[in-house]
Amino acid sequence: MRLARIETPVFDPNHEAETVQDYLAQQERKSFLRFLTCGSVDDGKSTLIGRLLSDTRQIFEDQIAALESDSRKHGTTGDEIDYALLVDGLEAEREQGITIDVAYRFFSTAKRKFIVADTPGHEQYTRNMATGASTSDLAIVLVDARQGVLRQTRRHSIIASLLGIRHIVVAINKIDLVGFDQAVFDRISAEYAAFAGELGFRSTAFIPMSARYGDNVTKRSENTAWYSGPTLLEHLENVVVDDTETDKPFRFPVQYVNRPNLDFRGFAGTVASGSIRQGDAVVAAKSGKPSRIRRIVAQGGDLAEAVAGEAVTLVLEDEIEVSRGNMLVTPDSRPHVADQFSANIVWFDEKALLPGRTYILRTETDQVSATVTELKHKIDINDFGKEPARSLDMNEVAVCNLSTQAPLAFDSFADNRTTGAFILIDRISNNTVGAGMIIHPLRRADNIHWQSLDIGKKARADLKNQKPAVLWFTGLSGSGKSTIANLLERKLHAAGRHTYVLDGDNIRHALNRDLGFTDQDRVENIRRVAEVAKLMADAGLIVIVSFISPFRAERQMARELMAKDEFVEVFVDTPLEECVRRDPKGLYARALAGQIRNFTGLDSPYEAPENAEIHLHTVGKTPEEMVDAIEDWLTNDEIAERQYDDGGGI
Ligand code: ADX
Repeated sequence: MRLARIETPVFDPNHEAETVQDYLAQQERKSFLRFLTCGSVDDGKSTLIGRLLSDTRQIFEDQIAALESDSRKHGTTGDEIDYALLVDGLEAEREQGITIDVAYRFFSTAKRKFIVADTPGHEQYTRNMATGASTSDLAIVLVDARQGVLRQTRRHSIIASLLGIRHIVVAINKIDLVGFDQAVFDRISAEYAAFAGELGFRSTAFIPMSARYGDNVTKRSENTAWYSGPTLLEHLENVVVDDTETDKPFRFPVQYVNRPNLDFRGFAGTVASGSIRQGDAVVAAKSGKPSRIRRIVAQGGDLAEAVAGEAVTLVLEDEIEVSRGNMLVTPDSRPHVADQFSANIVWFDEKALLPGRTYILRTETDQVSATVTELKHKIDINDFGKEPARSLDMNEVAVCNLSTQAPLAFDSFADNRTTGAFILIDRISNNTVGAGMIIHPLRRADNIHWQSLDIGKKARADLKNQKPAVLWFTGLSGSGKSTIANLLERKLHAAGRHTYVLDGDNIRHALNRDLGFTDQDRVENIRRVAEVAKLMADAGLIVIVSFISPFRAERQMARELMAKDEFVEVFVDTPLEECVRRDPKGLYARALAGQIRNFTGLDSPYEAPENAEIHLHTVGKTPEEMVDAIEDWLTNDEIAERQYDDGGGI
């Protein structure tokens, strides 16, 4: 995500262009307004965008035509002008680095250039809207005059506000369908104003409109004689979006280290806020290591200064360690560096956000694993009330605490829209599933340090003469996990191995007695047992984990928690019908009778492993045969080589 940028207008709109070349040159220098439209297809969003694009193009072409005929009179213009050139030129200025599919449309008037994020109005809407909003200065909220302020109007406004949009146009559309009635307009405006009072918008304009017939879009409507405000286009041309990124403290998220040869080492990126001059002092945000700017290298050569929005390569006086994801910042006002913080999260995905699940958290340039450690509360979009929540569904918004695997450098979103924002990515599907706006770091992280201990994992494992391992059994209830685990442990134990079995049913009696079988409880169940398994492996043990562990994401999380090659996934593959037939605890019978809900394989999913190290097909085999198969696999592995290296002795 990238902050919105507005260039200082250098173009004087009152100064009339005299030639086509003049005119086009002026176009180049105009200020930008980035905005998005919120509303569904039914609200007339596409009609509105279509009309803006075609009307402004018409205006533009009229102006050119007038200038052309003018200049023909004066005999100064030769060649034909390609009108498409200007729009294509704008296209080239399109925002880079956005991973989500949002179409950006471009248009231009004599006063300003516009980029509108055209976010399709289907159910993924919030996701696209959030993406569009993260780069926008203004949002047009479409309201159907016949319907008034709806839930989705509120939702979109809250999301726009959370994403840092400070300017709103409430387009009260289809005013023709209510007979251009001022009373309807006034009532909807008042209702919106009352609701949006807390959203922190700096400007809110209400415009009665018919996108279909063009009333008050680019032309003043005679049907709304009672309305004295600007047309939509006039408003967009004149609204002051006092974006002052340049006045903020210097932030330079490092995109990559540019080292073409031994003599040159520069940090490439875009200035997120503030400005920097040659000779200025900077520090690397994460380490606090100081240096000074020796050179500011840009496309056309060295610069004396770079300001917010400019892509440059910075060369420092000293060789300090700075890599991608770190920031160069001003020493006077530094960002937070922490691995725990609170944030507002907007969730986009059909699969709910589950606390305890690990996601990939990506900032402007950094990327780490992260979990929501606490879902503090959801935000009720009707009254901003706080609702308790255990998971977060699509299009919902919540305040959460997060924990990241490594420290991040960041600002609060209120201070900086670039360095205070992140997105969350699902590790399995790779989809962007949420957007986050950081509120503040959690200070509790400051006072807890890692205590270093003299005896390490290797020492503990050496004493046991074994290589620690986590044999992770996954499979349906009744698939035979516990039976096989039990038998395997007996054999390993008999061979002098130091083992421990973590069994789902047993752990759920004590450590995890507070957890049930909802998706979020299963995520937490696995998170805890994975942490326990990690500690046990650290103690030098061979740990056998026997949990249904139905979700790929959590098994993947467990795998990544362990040391390399330490995690062995064992898929105890027994088809559901067979488990139902065996039904050792009588649970399937009860579940099928409707007495147990969320039962794995029935009304709760089981995501089978795709690349388990050991895949056991149990049907028609005895537990002993299964254990033999595991042992065979282990013998071919380093774990087993030491396990069965009896010759060595202790
Ligand atoms: S997990 O899905 O969170 O990994 P876990 O392995 O801890 O499950 O516990 C599964 C055991 O709980 C099953 O073997 C069964 O005995 C019992 N159980 C009770 N209710 C359910 C249920 N709804 N779904 C699955 N197992 C259940």
